[in-house]
Amino acid sequence: MNPQSGAATKAAIGRDRIEWVRRHSPVLDGFVRERIGDGSLEGVTIAVVVHLEAKTAFLATVLADAGANVIAAGSNPRTTSGDVVEALRERGIVVVADAGGDYDSWERELLAAADHAPDYVIDDGAELTMRMSRHRPALYARLKGVSEETTTGTARLHAMHAAGRLPFPALTANDARCKHLFDNKFGTGQTTVQALLRLTNRQIAGAGFAVVGYGYVGRGIAQYAKAMGARTIVVETDPVRSLEAHMDGHVVGAARDVLPEASFVVTGTGGMRAVGARDLPYLRGDVVLANAGHHDLEVDVEAIAAAATAVSSPRDQIDTYRVDGRDLHVLSGGALVNIAGGSGHPVEIMDLTFAVQGLGAHHLVTTDLAPGVHIIPKELDDAIAAAKLASLGVVLDPMRPEQEDDAAAWLEDLEEGDVR
Ligand SMILES: NC(=O)c1ccc[n+]([C@@H]2O[C@H](COP(=O)([O-])OP(=O)(O)OC[C@H]3O[C@@H](n4cnc5c(N)ncnc54)[C@H](O)[C@@H]3O)[C@@H](O)[C@H]2O)c1
Repeated sequence: MNPQSGAATKAAIGRDRIEWVRRHSPVLDGFVRERIGDGSLEGVTIAVVVHLEAKTAFLATVLADAGANVIAAGSNPRTTSGDVVEALRERGIVVVADAGGDYDSWERELLAAADHAPDYVIDDGAELTMRMSRHRPALYARLKGVSEETTTGTARLHAMHAAGRLPFPALTANDARCKHLFDNKFGTGQTTVQALLRLTNRQIAGAGFAVVGYGYVGRGIAQYAKAMGARTIVVETDPVRSLEAHMDGHVVGAARDVLPEASFVVTGTGGMRAVGARDLPYLRGDVVLANAGHHDLEVDVEAIAAAATAVSSPRDQIDTYRVDGRDLHVLSGGALVNIAGGSGHPVEIMDLTFAVQGLGAHHLVTTDLAPGVHIIPKELDDAIAAAKLASLGVVLDPMRPEQEDDAAAWLEDLEEGDVR
């Protein structure tokens, strides 16, 4: 096959995938398309740096249809889809990423995205924002705004702002309720369990299933695992969240006490080395280790590799390390298992997340925001949820005046001495 016809075949597959996404994205394809199509994105250069598969590609096309010059790159070298890349290129969108790359090629891709001098960045993990700050200071100085996808990226943006290194407004899409309440919890919950079972072909019912980190991501994974019959275990450092996990019906405890019961261990902390060298003695033989958080080192694969006496690859995306006579199976090299080892979030979930991102970018372009970290206005969050409900045929009752607690009148009575 000549390379050109190979690219055409890939592009056709990618096109079909993007069309499948469009069919199941009523908010992005309707409400958002209409809202951002007011001409304000005309000629604006937006770098979209999110896991580069069909759902991200659809967001890129919606922005391009609204007149933006879109530059697409991936937020992790393991999650870029070659078919989707070709489909976007065929559509005239600049893509600076290719499938099958490694961390070195990914660095080059991100710098290539920076070199297109974006006005705005839709970022994931603040990966491009941080690199522009460090390696392309002149281009960073002319950046007008960033809309950030993740919990990890949000923490990084706050740190950059605190250090006086954020000279533009950044929106934290992750703080929108239409993002974290659905994407982090239900999206990651469903697809992490799905990917784990598909990659391993193992049984979940009755198995000990530990989740490390009980934030939105951990809650979702634990909820789905429990619903499938797992004996769920939570390892969490925050006492309030640990108590919540206990009341949600999970076994809670320190790693050394509860990890020995787990046949599956999944991290979702947003930090590094949540399962690290210190925890290796607590892991049982034949345990499956996977990560759903942003960092590839939440499961400290380097420490496991250093402790291993042998390594094998018994199945696709499974590396088995022999440590102290036990086999530890690491999925997808420690990358986000639901994306690197699965198809990523359900389309309907990303319809909400990318509605937040699309409207977030539009809000940045059309609103004079001060430098610093902002969340999208509540009206936009509410409008996205209302559009989603409308697509499901659900219309809500508005609050009637007599249903509202009239605090102002109560205070007035109080001032007049009426303390009934
Ligand atoms: N895989 C995906 O598709 C996907 C989707 C959304 C978010 N994420 C990522 O998942 C991660 C978690 O997101 P979130 O929204 O749940 O964050 P969160 O901040 O709500 O929750 C993280 C929890 O982990 C706990 N924690 C931190 N370090 C720990 C440790 N060493 N041991 C035990 N617990 C620890 C924290 O106390 C917190 O409760 C982030 O990196 C986020 O970017 C991934």
